[in-house]
Amino acid sequence: MSNHTREARGLAGLVVRMLAIAAFALGAAGAHAGIANTKHNLGADNATNENFMGAGGTTEICVFCHTPHASNTNVTAPLWNKPVAAGASYTTYTTATSATIEGSVDMSGISLACLSCHDGTQAMDTMINRPGSGGYNAAGAVTGGTWNGARQSNGQLINAGEFIANLGTDLSNDHPVGIQYCGGGISTGGASTTDASSGTCRDGDFNAPQNGLIGGHRAWWVDTSAGAAGTRQKTDMVLYARAPVLAGDATSGQFQPFVECASCHDPHSENPTFLRVPNTQSAVCLACHNK
Ligand code: HEC
Ligand code: HEC
Ligand code: HEC
Ligand code: HEC
Repeated sequence: MSNHTREARGLAGLVVRMLAIAAFALGAAGAHAGIANTKHNLGADNATNENFMGAGGTTEICVFCHTPHASNTNVTAPLWNKPVAAGASYTTYTTATSATIEGSVDMSGISLACLSCHDGTQAMDTMINRPGSGGYNAAGAVTGGTWNGARQSNGQLINAGEFIANLGTDLSNDHPVGIQYCGGGISTGGASTTDASSGTCRDGDFNAPQNGLIGGHRAWWVDTSAGAAGTRQKTDMVLYARAPVLAGDATSGQFQPFVECASCHDPHSENPTFLRVPNTQSAVCLACHNK
């Protein structure tokens, strides 16, 4: 092999490596910009999926869920732009459904935000702060424009064909949400109400969750193999902390991890059915259930 060829190969190899780095960088950026091509783009420009907002409807995407100002602080979803129903409106998965369930159910969490569209009773374009200036209504008002598509009626989700996007208000036939993780939570806790960092799963059928203080609050998650272990990423099964009602229990008043819709789903993800990780070989289920 001549030196010349060797140099050319070296150069070609360098170019290939640079392209690979560029492609990786682009891929990483692309993964975060993907909601526009998902079913969670309800705006009039969405040509990829069922087009929910028709002529005259907003082409904004985030506004159906978030507002930069004057958001609903009664629900634990960030900058939430919609009213939500009371937790008591829902029939939950309980011991009436199963003889083996152990966690206590508390429908006060972020699942109420998902259900503000997915229970089929609330118009998907009801917003607290509609697009543009002068569209504020604390109780929520519908934005302008017509509705398209067979999978809604008056802007409320319906189940057409074999889609079950409308879960209804009876959640007893759905995977439990608003439920304590670990088969009844963590067995012991620390001293402060924001701390329950020690302790073990009450039920060893669950994989132990990770936790850490993020912004001074106790955050919980179950690591998946998709990201670095020991730090919370959107590809981990995110658990939502709150103080459970466990009077008389050693953990009474301690913040405990709960499973919500967004534990399994990232509403911005490009994965099929918005899962935090693809459910290949049931990776979603096996992240939590030690089966
Ligand atoms: C269909 C409803 C929906 C739409 C549309 C939506 N989001 Fe979200 N978003 C949520 C929910 C629910 C959460 C909380 C999820 C969680 O706890 O991870 C969230 C969380 C977030 C967060 C904080 C957590 C994170 O994942 O980074 C940011 C930032 C965010 N959204 C930005 C946006 C932007 C920007 C858009 C528009 C391009 C958008 N969202 C569109 C529902 C939505
Ligand atoms: C603003 C209304 C709205 C909110 C809020 C909302 N969704 Fe959706 N979601 C939709 C619409 C519309 C569809 C598409 C339904 C269809 O095409 O039949 C959808 C579809 C889905 C699907 C099915 C995707 C597929 O590929 O079939 C999942 C899963 C889902 N949403 C989960 C969630 C979760 C979890 C939350 C809360 C974190 C949430 N959604 C919040 C409007 C919403
Ligand atoms: C424990 C994990 C988990 C939780 C919690 C969960 N989901 Fe799902 N969901 C899934 C998985 C997994 C799928 C995909 C099922 C499949 O591919 O067979 C799915 C599918 C869906 C679909 C698509 C249904 C279809 O076939 O058209 C919708 C809509 C949905 N989920 C909404 C929600 C909402 C709203 C909540 C909260 C009330 C929720 N999910 C809670 C795991 C979960
Ligand atoms: C984020 C963690 C998490 C994920 C992911 C998850 N689960 Fe669960 N699952 C739970 C918790 C917590 C319970 C409540 C169990 C209890 O308290 O005894 C539960 C309950 C159940 C039950 C009812 C058990 C009973 O005793 O009635 C079944 C069945 C189940 N899950 C199957 C699945 C399947 C299938 C998947 C994947 C599609 C899945 N789970 C994903 C946490 C999870």
